[in-house]
Amino acid sequence: MASQPEPVRIVEVGPRDGLQNEPVPVPTATKRAFVERLVAAGLREIEVTSFVHPKLVPQLADAAELCAGLPAAPGVRYSALAPNEKGLERALAAGVQRVAVFTAASETFAQRNINMSIDESLRTFAEVARRALAAGVSVRGYLSTCFVCPFEGHIAAARVLDLTQRLLDIGCDEVAISDTIGAAAPRDVAETVGLVLSRVPAAKLALHFHDTYGTALANVVAGLQLGIRTFDASAGGLGGCPFAPGAAGNLATEDLVYLLERMGHPTGVRLDAVVAAAGLISQHTGRPLASRNARRLGGDHACAAV
Ligand code: HMG
Ligand code: MG
Repeated sequence: MASQPEPVRIVEVGPRDGLQNEPVPVPTATKRAFVERLVAAGLREIEVTSFVHPKLVPQLADAAELCAGLPAAPGVRYSALAPNEKGLERALAAGVQRVAVFTAASETFAQRNINMSIDESLRTFAEVARRALAAGVSVRGYLSTCFVCPFEGHIAAARVLDLTQRLLDIGCDEVAISDTIGAAAPRDVAETVGLVLSRVPAAKLALHFHDTYGTALANVVAGLQLGIRTFDASAGGLGGCPFAPGAAGNLATEDLVYLLERMGHPTGVRLDAVVAAAGLISQHTGRPLASRNARRLGGDHACAAV
């Protein structure tokens, strides 16, 4: 008997990665409504904001206020970025259930993004993770620029393996292998993620693709073939990184849901409800959503506050 494809876990990063680069200020109440609709769409892991320096990422300066008003939803886990002890203190005070630390496979990008060398970031994160775990808060690790760095070019797979192991060693329960500028193609995924999988179980990995060159869905298929079952995505394809020139939005959650469900992997997420959630943001900014499925469902639907 043919085996059923396994369910795939989607980590929704729209409220954080999607909004951190948004030039039009989004009111806290609109963000909260966005998160509520993502929950209603069936998403169970939602990265809602960042406890970073508010002057560097003013779009997320309302992190504490946003977290204070989020609806408690059974089975839903809200997480936030916390790159240092100050960020962790703020995240714990706001009551998040999970924090994420983030470094890079490229020294230049780490410096520009978090003002730390890679080694320095891992020392800082070790303390963040120790204190978070002691407080009963789990820790995710992001590794940016795993394939191509906007400053250093091609990144060696061995470097990604080494840093993934170091993030797991300090207490992260999962590492998101990230294509920050959306430049990877399936061959890169096979090479780099394939090498990481020679030492790290698939259950400890997530893939985080941006869609600058239109290769994100193809990269997901490459990841699925390698046995990865967790993917990050952003409703509406919102997003980008203010510290990575040329980075476009994340892979759109609704496009990922279509692909996965069509391939027989249950996600528990309703595609049209994700588009309606992202429509709240589109309505506020006045910009149409970039995703294929938002366009398929029509501009009116994508922008309607339904
Ligand atoms: P720093 O300036 O090196 O920190 O910032 P510092 O420890 O030297 O402190 C300097 C001042 O900042 C102090 O204030 C601190 O209190 C304050 P002062 O005493 O001068 O008044 N400070 C803070 N305030 C609030 N919250 C904090 C905090 N930390 C220090 N957490 C830091 C280091 C990492 C904080 C800074 O560089 C920063 O905030 N960077 C922003 C990074 C960011 O948000 N990047 C985008 C997200 S990552 C991403 O998008 C990639 C990802 O999606 C994966 C992918 O696609 O690749 C995850
Ligand atoms: Mg990202």
